[in-house]
Amino acid sequence: MTEFALQARHLFKHYDEGAARIDVLRDVSLAVIPGEMVAIIGASGSGKSTLLHTLGLLDLPTSGEVIVAGTSSNGLNEATRSRLRNRALGFVYQFHHLLPEFSALDNVAMPLIVRRQTRDAARLEAQRVLELVGLAARVTHFPGQLSGGERQRVALARALVGRPACVLADEPTGNLDRHTAHQMFSLLKQVNAQSGTAFVIVTHDPELAALADRRLHMESGCLVQAPPPETPQSEVPQPDASQSDAQHPVRARP
Ligand SMILES: Nc1ncnc2c1ncn2[C@@H]1O[C@H](COP(=O)(O)OP(=O)(O)OP(=O)(O)O)[C@@H](O)[C@H]1O
Ligand SMILES: [Mg+2]
Repeated sequence: MTEFALQARHLFKHYDEGAARIDVLRDVSLAVIPGEMVAIIGASGSGKSTLLHTLGLLDLPTSGEVIVAGTSSNGLNEATRSRLRNRALGFVYQFHHLLPEFSALDNVAMPLIVRRQTRDAARLEAQRVLELVGLAARVTHFPGQLSGGERQRVALARALVGRPACVLADEPTGNLDRHTAHQMFSLLKQVNAQSGTAFVIVTHDPELAALADRRLHMESGCLVQAPPPETPQSEVPQPDASQSDAQHPVRARP
């Protein structure tokens, strides 16, 4: 049986606000195979970040299950969830979230130090990954001494250093100009091909999403197959449950 890099089964998430209830995830299922690059697009407020946080074990669903590299996260205590997150997942956000008082090298080494590797071993591995993202010449720089694109590349290196099964990226190019955004996406593609790490990337940019192996669309808390790039929505048949690929379950529209 295939072990998925990441799997979500029937995720629901709602918030109660007084008498009102906000349904943010409505029966989302997803299976990401090792090495696959999946893009998620969708309107602001449709639930993309909530889904990514839930897949990343940073947020709990109201119901449903997230399975990370073959391990179900249901019923785990916080410490075990954190270990699973640290071992099997990497994160890249719109804003880099690097620690300003640490060099690029030490920022990237951090997840390995959290895993109790020695500082020397962690730095050696951090150096290797910084070279992979083209930043060999910037390892001693602090975040304040790097350009926006370079900071995002350090953030990517930090996400990759623990050799995760899957990297979750929430608008990783959202804060970059168009040219740098394209460079970043090319790098994501290249790293994805070289490392075999799966990627789930939320982006507002359809052109960038077109570079992914698979595109999904978030619509009011439901995940549906996105139309192929450049094809008008009206010409695309919508998936129904009977046609959905068992390996890539995507919920049809309600
Ligand atoms: N803690 C919370 N309490 C109540 N509602 C919330 C909470 N967090 C998110 N929401 C609501 O859930 C919905 C989805 O939010 P989310 O951040 O997942 O959207 P998004 O698709 O990532 O949007 P964007 O593209 O603007 O980043 C929004 O309507 C938001 O207001
Ligand atoms: Mg968001």
